[in-house]
Amino acid sequence: MKNSVTKTVGILTSGGDAPGLNAAIRGIARTAMDEYGMKVIGIHNGYRGLIDGEYEELKPFDITGILTRGGTILGTSREKPFKDPEKDPKTGRTPVESIKRTYKKLGLDALVVLGGNGTNTTGYLLSQEGLNIIGLPKTIDNDLVGTDVTFGFHTAVAVATEAIDRLHTTAHSHNRIMVIEVMGHKAGWLGLYAGIAGGGDVILIPEIPYDVDIIGQHLTERQKQGKSFSIVVVAEGAKSIEEAQLDKKELKRRRAEMTGSIGYRVARELERATGLVSRVTVLGYLQRGGTPEPYDRVLATRFGVEAAHMLARGEFGKMVAIKNECITAVPLEEISGKIKKVPLSHELILAGRAVGTCFGDR
Ligand code: F6P
Repeated sequence: MKNSVTKTVGILTSGGDAPGLNAAIRGIARTAMDEYGMKVIGIHNGYRGLIDGEYEELKPFDITGILTRGGTILGTSREKPFKDPEKDPKTGRTPVESIKRTYKKLGLDALVVLGGNGTNTTGYLLSQEGLNIIGLPKTIDNDLVGTDVTFGFHTAVAVATEAIDRLHTTAHSHNRIMVIEVMGHKAGWLGLYAGIAGGGDVILIPEIPYDVDIIGQHLTERQKQGKSFSIVVVAEGAKSIEEAQLDKKELKRRRAEMTGSIGYRVARELERATGLVSRVTVLGYLQRGGTPEPYDRVLATRFGVEAAHMLARGEFGKMVAIKNECITAVPLEEISGKIKKVPLSHELILAGRAVGTCFGDR
């Protein structure tokens, strides 16, 4: 057994589930147990489990056969302990106080948090409170700074691409505009990758505010060229030029008043602009569910194994990352509270424009 600074480690998964979480848990726990003899505690339902004291010791059997499984064996939640500093009347403690108490009670030397922006930002804030934290970058949105890619993203792209492929056949048969809305939160990575992979004729992402008249002209032009159908890929965070001028609060207010999600609105706008029949598919949680693609299984395993080595070395306060195909780690401080958006000069946007994709702006 190799020497290790960490003797007892907690693992939690937080935020939306993503394909590859179980592969990452397995990578951390197996390496921690088998190479370093660590005790591994699985915390249930993200930070909520630390607040409520819900956990279990993971044994080798618990992490057998989970590599290929979607979701997370530990459960997850969107608990943000620093957002609500109120004391719980039952315990008399704030969420952060409860977390620190459970950490101490379990005798944890460190905690590995698997999640996206919110999870790793909370991890950073907990490290400021004196806890030893290592983060892992998980999200189908791929919007974490400090890493080239997050696990879960490739599987979501594959699911969305397959959906676009299937829509193509119906679009072709019925001469329709098929609008497909994909997730991605405030970033356009998922829409961009799936849109390019699926040959979307129009791709709308939050980073490029759209003008419906420009899209209308593009689709009408396609009709004139004898192309009887069009596929429009809309990221859930897509905005019109007008909306892009609004502050966050006003945009939120208008969105709350909107009938249906953004995909439905774009379809209505395009029907008005072109006179063509439009149909909408909102892919939703299908993008997060199911078996992880091999790429995500491999990436999550690499991240998990590296996290265990960092635990052994006592390298805390960092998020495991991948840069130029090499596994590395970045300080949590550098990524905390930040979102990685698609740069306008991104090669894939230029490639899309080169093959005739309309991004709604020209
Ligand atoms: O962050 C992952 C994600 O799936 C986003 O793409 C989406 O906006 C959000 O989570 C949905 O959140 P919830 O699971 O809370 O509905």
